[in-house]
Amino acid sequence: MKSFWKVLSLSVVALVFLAGCGGGKKGGIKVGLSLPTQREERWVRDKIKMEEEAKKLGVDLKVQISDNDAQKQLAQCENLIAQGIKVLILAPHDANSAAAIVEKAHKEGIKVISYDRLVMDCNVDVYISFDNVKVGELQGAYITKLVPKGNYVVLAGAPTDNNAKLFREGAMKYIKPLADKGQIKIVMDQWVKDWQPAEAQKLMEQALTANKNKIDAVLAPNDGTAGGCIQALAAQGLAGKVPITGQDAELAAAIRIMKGEQTMTVFKDTRLLGAKAIEVAIKMAKGETLTEANQTVNNNKIDVPSILLTPIAVDKNNLEEVLIKSGYLKKEDVFKN
Ligand code: GAL
Repeated sequence: MKSFWKVLSLSVVALVFLAGCGGGKKGGIKVGLSLPTQREERWVRDKIKMEEEAKKLGVDLKVQISDNDAQKQLAQCENLIAQGIKVLILAPHDANSAAAIVEKAHKEGIKVISYDRLVMDCNVDVYISFDNVKVGELQGAYITKLVPKGNYVVLAGAPTDNNAKLFREGAMKYIKPLADKGQIKIVMDQWVKDWQPAEAQKLMEQALTANKNKIDAVLAPNDGTAGGCIQALAAQGLAGKVPITGQDAELAAAIRIMKGEQTMTVFKDTRLLGAKAIEVAIKMAKGETLTEANQTVNNNKIDVPSILLTPIAVDKNNLEEVLIKSGYLKKEDVFKN
Protein backbone atom coordinates (compact mmCIF):
# COMPACT_ATOMS: atom_id res chain seq x y z
CA MET A 1 0.00 0.00 0.00
CA LYS A 2 2.84 2.37 0.96
CA SER A 3 4.56 1.80 -2.40
CA PHE A 4 1.25 2.51 -4.18
CA TRP A 5 1.16 6.01 -2.64
CA LYS A 6 4.83 6.50 -3.44
CA VAL A 7 4.27 5.64 -7.13
CA LEU A 8 1.18 7.84 -7.22
CA SER A 9 2.92 10.86 -5.70
CA LEU A 10 5.93 10.41 -7.99
CA SER A 11 3.59 10.26 -10.99
CA VAL A 12 1.88 13.46 -9.90
CA VAL A 13 5.26 15.21 -9.55
CA ALA A 14 6.27 13.94 -13.00
CA LEU A 15 2.98 15.09 -14.52
CA VAL A 16 3.27 18.56 -13.00
CA PHE A 17 6.84 18.77 -14.29
CA LEU A 18 5.84 17.65 -17.80
CA ALA A 19 2.91 20.06 -17.86
CA GLY A 20 5.31 22.85 -17.01
CA CYS A 21 7.56 21.86 -19.91
CA GLY A 22 4.63 21.38 -22.33
CA GLY A 23 4.92 23.45 -25.50
CA GLY A 24 7.95 25.30 -24.14
CA LYS A 25 5.12 27.40 -22.77
CA LYS A 26 5.16 29.92 -19.94
CA GLY A 27 7.76 32.61 -20.37
CA GLY A 28 8.45 31.71 -24.01
CA ILE A 29 7.94 34.18 -26.85
CA LYS A 30 4.19 34.49 -27.44
CA VAL A 31 3.24 33.84 -31.06
CA GLY A 32 -0.30 33.67 -32.47
CA LEU A 33 -1.25 31.25 -35.24
CA SER A 34 -4.48 31.70 -37.18
CA LEU A 35 -5.32 28.96 -39.69
CA PRO A 36 -8.30 28.90 -42.07
CA THR A 37 -9.40 25.31 -41.52
CA GLN A 38 -8.57 21.85 -40.23
CA ARG A 39 -10.91 20.15 -42.72
CA GLU A 40 -8.07 19.50 -45.12
CA GLU A 41 -5.14 17.26 -44.27
CA ARG A 42 -2.55 19.81 -45.31
CA TRP A 43 -3.67 22.37 -42.71
CA VAL A 44 -3.66 19.67 -40.04
CA ARG A 45 -0.06 18.95 -40.95
CA ASP A 46 0.90 22.66 -40.85
CA LYS A 47 -0.57 22.93 -37.36
CA ILE A 48 1.15 19.81 -36.06
CA LYS A 49 4.52 20.91 -37.45
CA MET A 50 4.32 24.41 -36.03
CA GLU A 51 3.23 23.12 -32.61
CA GLU A 52 6.12 20.64 -32.62
CA GLU A 53 8.63 23.29 -33.64
CA ALA A 54 7.28 25.81 -31.13
CA LYS A 55 7.62 23.25 -28.37
CA LYS A 56 11.19 22.46 -29.39
CA LEU A 57 12.23 26.11 -29.50
CA GLY A 58 10.36 27.29 -26.42
CA VAL A 59 7.74 29.37 -28.22
CA ASP A 60 4.36 29.87 -26.54
CA LEU A 61 2.18 29.22 -29.61
CA LYS A 62 -1.49 30.16 -29.38
CA VAL A 63 -3.53 28.50 -32.12
CA GLN A 64 -6.92 29.49 -33.55
CA ILE A 65 -8.87 27.87 -36.40
CA SER A 66 -11.35 30.06 -38.28
CA ASP A 67 -13.38 27.35 -40.05
CA ASN A 68 -13.38 29.20 -43.39
CA ASP A 69 -15.10 32.19 -41.80
CA ALA A 70 -13.54 35.64 -42.27
CA GLN A 71 -15.50 37.25 -39.41
CA LYS A 72 -14.51 34.48 -37.04
CA GLN A 73 -10.88 34.83 -38.10
CA LEU A 74 -10.96 38.56 -37.37
CA ALA A 75 -12.50 38.01 -33.93
CA GLN A 76 -10.03 35.23 -33.09
CA CYS A 77 -7.08 37.38 -34.16
CA GLU A 78 -8.33 40.30 -32.07
CA ASN A 79 -8.36 37.91 -29.18
CA LEU A 80 -4.79 36.76 -29.91
CA ILE A 81 -3.68 40.40 -30.14
CA ALA A 82 -5.28 41.07 -26.75
CA GLN A 83 -3.29 38.16 -25.28
CA GLY A 84 -0.04 40.01 -25.92
CA ILE A 85 1.45 38.03 -28.80
CA LYS A 86 4.64 39.43 -30.34
CA VAL A 87 4.12 37.97 -33.82
CA LEU A 88 1.05 36.70 -35.68
CA ILE A 89 1.31 33.89 -38.23
CA LEU A 90 -1.76 34.38 -40.40
CA ALA A 91 -3.08 32.11 -43.16
CA PRO A 92 -6.09 34.15 -44.27
CA HIS A 93 -9.43 32.68 -45.25
CA ASP A 94 -10.24 35.85 -47.16
CA ALA A 95 -7.18 37.51 -48.70
CA ASN A 96 -8.73 40.98 -48.87
CA SER A 97 -10.69 41.36 -45.66
CA ALA A 98 -7.75 39.97 -43.67
CA ALA A 99 -5.96 43.28 -44.30
CA ALA A 100 -7.96 44.61 -41.32
CA ILE A 101 -6.30 41.98 -39.11
CA VAL A 102 -2.85 43.12 -40.21
CA GLU A 103 -3.72 46.75 -39.47
CA LYS A 104 -5.03 45.89 -36.00
CA ALA A 105 -1.91 43.87 -35.21
CA HIS A 106 0.37 46.66 -36.42
CA LYS A 107 -1.42 49.18 -34.18
CA GLU A 108 -0.26 47.08 -31.23
CA GLY A 109 3.27 46.75 -32.59
CA ILE A 110 2.74 43.10 -33.58
CA LYS A 111 4.49 41.83 -36.71
CA VAL A 112 2.49 39.67 -39.13
CA ILE A 113 3.68 36.72 -41.21
CA SER A 114 1.42 35.96 -44.18
CA TYR A 115 1.48 32.17 -44.10
CA ASP A 116 1.00 30.13 -47.30
CA ARG A 117 -1.68 32.57 -48.54
CA LEU A 118 -0.92 36.24 -49.20
CA VAL A 119 -2.90 38.94 -47.40
CA MET A 120 -3.70 41.56 -50.03
CA ASP A 121 -3.78 45.37 -49.89
CA CYS A 122 -1.87 45.89 -46.67
CA ASN A 123 1.64 46.33 -45.24
CA VAL A 124 2.07 42.73 -44.12
CA ASP A 125 5.65 42.20 -42.92
CA VAL A 126 6.68 38.99 -44.67
CA TYR A 127 5.18 36.26 -46.84
CA ILE A 128 6.23 32.63 -46.38
CA SER A 129 4.85 30.24 -48.95
CA PHE A 130 5.65 28.13 -51.98
CA ASP A 131 6.12 29.42 -55.49
CA ASN A 132 2.40 29.22 -56.21
CA VAL A 133 2.52 30.18 -59.88
CA LYS A 134 4.96 27.29 -60.23
CA VAL A 135 2.40 24.96 -58.58
CA GLY A 136 -0.06 25.85 -61.36
CA GLU A 137 2.64 25.50 -64.00
CA LEU A 138 3.42 21.98 -62.80
CA GLN A 139 -0.28 21.06 -63.07
CA GLY A 140 -0.74 22.73 -66.46
CA ALA A 141 2.44 21.33 -68.00
CA TYR A 142 1.61 17.82 -66.80
CA ILE A 143 -1.98 17.68 -68.00
CA THR A 144 -1.39 19.34 -71.40
CA LYS A 145 1.51 17.02 -72.13
CA LEU A 146 -0.71 14.03 -71.40
CA VAL A 147 -3.83 15.45 -73.06
CA PRO A 148 -2.82 18.05 -75.69
CA LYS A 149 -6.32 18.19 -77.18
CA GLY A 150 -9.93 17.56 -76.23
CA ASN A 151 -12.56 18.73 -73.79
CA TYR A 152 -11.16 20.29 -70.62
CA VAL A 153 -12.85 21.02 -67.30
CA VAL A 154 -10.90 23.85 -65.67
CA LEU A 155 -11.54 24.35 -61.97
CA ALA A 156 -9.87 26.97 -59.80
CA GLY A 157 -9.86 27.16 -56.00
CA ALA A 158 -11.70 29.62 -53.77
CA PRO A 159 -12.01 33.10 -55.27
CA THR A 160 -11.27 34.52 -51.80
CA ASP A 161 -7.82 32.86 -51.78
CA ASN A 162 -5.06 34.65 -53.67
CA ASN A 163 -3.27 31.32 -54.14
CA ALA A 164 -6.18 30.07 -56.24
CA LYS A 165 -5.52 32.91 -58.70
CA LEU A 166 -1.81 32.12 -58.84
CA PHE A 167 -2.39 28.39 -59.38
CA ARG A 168 -4.80 29.17 -62.19
CA GLU A 169 -2.44 31.70 -63.74
CA GLY A 170 0.36 29.11 -63.79
CA ALA A 171 -1.80 26.34 -65.26
CA MET A 172 -3.34 28.59 -67.92
CA LYS A 173 0.13 29.38 -69.29
CA TYR A 174 -0.07 25.87 -70.72
CA ILE A 175 -3.80 25.41 -71.33
CA LYS A 176 -4.68 28.76 -72.91
CA PRO A 177 -2.33 28.62 -75.93
CA LEU A 178 -3.79 25.23 -76.87
CA ALA A 179 -7.32 26.52 -76.33
CA ASP A 180 -6.52 29.56 -78.51
CA LYS A 181 -5.35 27.19 -81.24
CA GLY A 182 -8.62 25.28 -80.95
CA GLN A 183 -6.93 22.06 -79.86
CA ILE A 184 -8.38 22.25 -76.38
CA LYS A 185 -12.00 23.13 -75.74
CA ILE A 186 -12.62 24.47 -72.25
CA VAL A 187 -16.12 23.18 -71.58
CA MET A 188 -16.22 24.44 -68.01
CA ASP A 189 -14.25 27.19 -66.28
CA GLN A 190 -15.29 27.68 -62.64
CA TRP A 191 -14.07 28.71 -59.17
CA VAL A 192 -14.83 26.36 -56.30
CA LYS A 193 -16.29 28.11 -53.27
CA ASP A 194 -14.16 27.56 -50.15
CA TRP A 195 -12.28 24.78 -51.99
CA GLN A 196 -15.17 22.45 -51.10
CA PRO A 197 -14.94 18.92 -52.52
CA ALA A 198 -18.75 18.66 -52.62
CA GLU A 199 -18.91 21.81 -54.71
CA ALA A 200 -16.28 20.42 -57.12
CA GLN A 201 -18.26 17.19 -57.37
CA LYS A 202 -21.40 19.12 -58.30
CA LEU A 203 -19.57 21.09 -60.98
CA MET A 204 -18.03 17.92 -62.38
CA GLU A 205 -21.46 16.26 -62.53
CA GLN A 206 -22.78 19.27 -64.45
CA ALA A 207 -19.86 19.16 -66.89
CA LEU A 208 -20.35 15.44 -67.49
CA THR A 209 -24.07 15.84 -68.12
CA ALA A 210 -23.67 18.87 -70.39
CA ASN A 211 -21.03 17.10 -72.48
CA LYS A 212 -22.57 13.62 -72.55
CA ASN A 213 -19.60 12.35 -70.52
CA LYS A 214 -17.10 13.45 -73.16
CA ILE A 215 -14.52 15.00 -70.86
CA ASP A 216 -10.88 14.35 -71.73
CA ALA A 217 -9.04 16.10 -68.89
CA VAL A 218 -9.69 17.90 -65.61
CA LEU A 219 -7.60 20.63 -64.04
CA ALA A 220 -8.43 20.21 -60.35
CA PRO A 221 -6.62 22.81 -58.23
CA ASN A 222 -5.99 20.59 -55.19
CA ASP A 223 -6.50 17.07 -53.89
CA GLY A 224 -9.73 17.87 -52.06
CA THR A 225 -11.43 19.16 -55.18
CA ALA A 226 -9.87 16.34 -57.24
CA GLY A 227 -11.48 13.88 -54.82
CA GLY A 228 -14.89 15.47 -55.42
CA CYS A 229 -14.43 15.34 -59.21
CA ILE A 230 -13.30 11.72 -59.06
CA GLN A 231 -16.49 10.77 -57.20
CA ALA A 232 -18.51 12.30 -60.03
CA LEU A 233 -16.36 10.48 -62.61
CA ALA A 234 -16.69 7.19 -60.70
CA ALA A 235 -20.49 7.47 -60.77
CA GLN A 236 -20.22 7.38 -64.59
CA GLY A 237 -17.64 4.57 -64.58
CA LEU A 238 -14.97 7.04 -65.65
CA ALA A 239 -12.64 7.12 -62.63
CA GLY A 240 -9.13 6.43 -63.90
CA LYS A 241 -10.16 7.09 -67.49
CA VAL A 242 -9.98 10.89 -67.36
CA PRO A 243 -6.61 12.43 -66.41
CA ILE A 244 -6.94 14.80 -63.45
CA THR A 245 -4.49 16.96 -61.50
CA GLY A 246 -4.28 17.75 -57.80
CA GLN A 247 -2.15 19.41 -55.15
CA ASP A 248 -1.10 18.85 -51.52
CA ALA A 249 0.06 15.23 -51.53
CA GLU A 250 -2.76 14.19 -49.23
CA LEU A 251 -2.83 10.53 -48.24
CA ALA A 252 -6.18 9.98 -49.99
CA ALA A 253 -4.70 11.44 -53.18
CA ALA A 254 -1.57 9.28 -52.94
CA ILE A 255 -3.81 6.20 -52.65
CA ARG A 256 -5.82 7.33 -55.68
CA ILE A 257 -2.64 7.96 -57.67
CA MET A 258 -1.34 4.46 -56.99
CA LYS A 259 -4.78 3.02 -57.90
CA GLY A 260 -4.71 5.03 -61.13
CA GLU A 261 -7.74 7.21 -60.29
CA GLN A 262 -5.83 10.50 -59.94
CA THR A 263 -3.00 11.37 -62.30
CA MET A 264 -0.76 13.64 -60.29
CA THR A 265 -0.47 15.89 -57.26
CA VAL A 266 1.89 18.68 -56.26
CA PHE A 267 3.92 18.17 -53.11
CA LYS A 268 4.48 21.21 -50.91
CA ASP A 269 6.38 20.05 -47.86
CA THR A 270 4.41 21.59 -45.00
CA ARG A 271 7.13 20.43 -42.61
CA LEU A 272 9.56 22.89 -44.20
CA LEU A 273 6.97 25.67 -44.36
CA GLY A 274 5.87 25.26 -40.75
CA ALA A 275 9.42 25.13 -39.41
CA LYS A 276 10.36 28.22 -41.43
CA ALA A 277 7.40 30.18 -40.04
CA ILE A 278 8.35 29.47 -36.43
CA GLU A 279 12.01 30.27 -37.12
CA VAL A 280 11.05 33.59 -38.75
CA ALA A 281 8.58 34.42 -35.96
CA ILE A 282 11.37 34.06 -33.39
CA LYS A 283 13.68 36.29 -35.43
CA MET A 284 10.98 38.92 -35.80
CA ALA A 285 10.14 38.86 -32.12
CA LYS A 286 13.82 39.50 -31.40
CA GLY A 287 13.93 42.31 -33.96
CA GLU A 288 16.47 40.52 -36.16
CA THR A 289 16.61 41.21 -39.92
CA LEU A 290 15.32 38.53 -42.26
CA THR A 291 18.10 37.99 -44.75
CA GLU A 292 16.30 34.95 -46.20
CA ALA A 293 13.33 37.04 -47.43
CA ASN A 294 15.27 37.86 -50.56
CA GLN A 295 12.45 38.14 -53.09
CA THR A 296 9.18 40.04 -53.19
CA VAL A 297 5.56 39.40 -54.16
CA ASN A 298 3.24 42.34 -54.78
CA ASN A 299 -0.04 42.36 -52.84
CA ASN A 300 -1.61 45.34 -54.67
CA LYS A 301 -0.16 47.69 -52.07
CA ILE A 302 3.48 46.83 -51.49
CA ASP A 303 6.18 44.43 -52.60
CA VAL A 304 6.08 42.02 -49.69
CA PRO A 305 9.45 40.51 -48.70
CA SER A 306 8.98 36.82 -49.39
CA ILE A 307 10.40 33.38 -48.77
CA LEU A 308 9.10 30.96 -51.42
CA LEU A 309 9.80 27.23 -51.24
CA THR A 310 9.79 24.92 -54.25
CA PRO A 311 6.85 22.63 -55.09
CA ILE A 312 7.37 19.19 -56.69
CA ALA A 313 5.11 17.38 -59.16
CA VAL A 314 4.33 13.81 -58.09
CA ASP A 315 2.81 10.95 -60.07
CA LYS A 316 2.93 7.19 -59.67
CA ASN A 317 6.49 7.09 -61.01
CA ASN A 318 8.09 9.21 -58.28
CA LEU A 319 5.55 8.97 -55.45
CA GLU A 320 7.56 6.44 -53.49
CA GLU A 321 10.78 8.41 -53.94
CA VAL A 322 9.34 11.84 -53.07
CA LEU A 323 6.59 11.17 -50.56
CA ILE A 324 7.44 7.90 -48.87
CA LYS A 325 11.23 8.04 -48.71
CA SER A 326 11.04 11.56 -47.29
CA GLY A 327 8.80 10.23 -44.51
CA TYR A 328 5.87 12.49 -45.48
CA LEU A 329 3.59 9.50 -46.02
CA LYS A 330 3.90 5.96 -44.70
CA LYS A 331 4.21 3.12 -47.18
CA GLU A 332 1.75 0.94 -45.27
CA ASP A 333 -0.87 3.73 -45.39
CA VAL A 334 -0.50 4.37 -49.13
CA PHE A 335 -0.61 0.68 -50.02
CA LYS A 336 -3.04 -0.48 -47.35
CA ASN A 337 -5.65 -1.77 -49.81
C1 GAL B 1 -4.46 26.92 -50.69
C2 GAL B 1 -3.30 26.09 -50.28
C3 GAL B 1 -3.46 24.72 -50.81
C4 GAL B 1 -4.82 24.14 -50.51
C5 GAL B 1 -5.95 25.15 -50.56
C6 GAL B 1 -7.20 24.71 -49.86
O1 GAL B 1 -4.31 28.23 -50.28
O2 GAL B 1 -2.09 26.64 -50.76
O3 GAL B 1 -2.41 23.92 -50.34
O4 GAL B 1 -4.80 23.47 -49.31
O5 GAL B 1 -5.60 26.39 -50.08
O6 GAL B 1 -7.09 24.81 -48.48
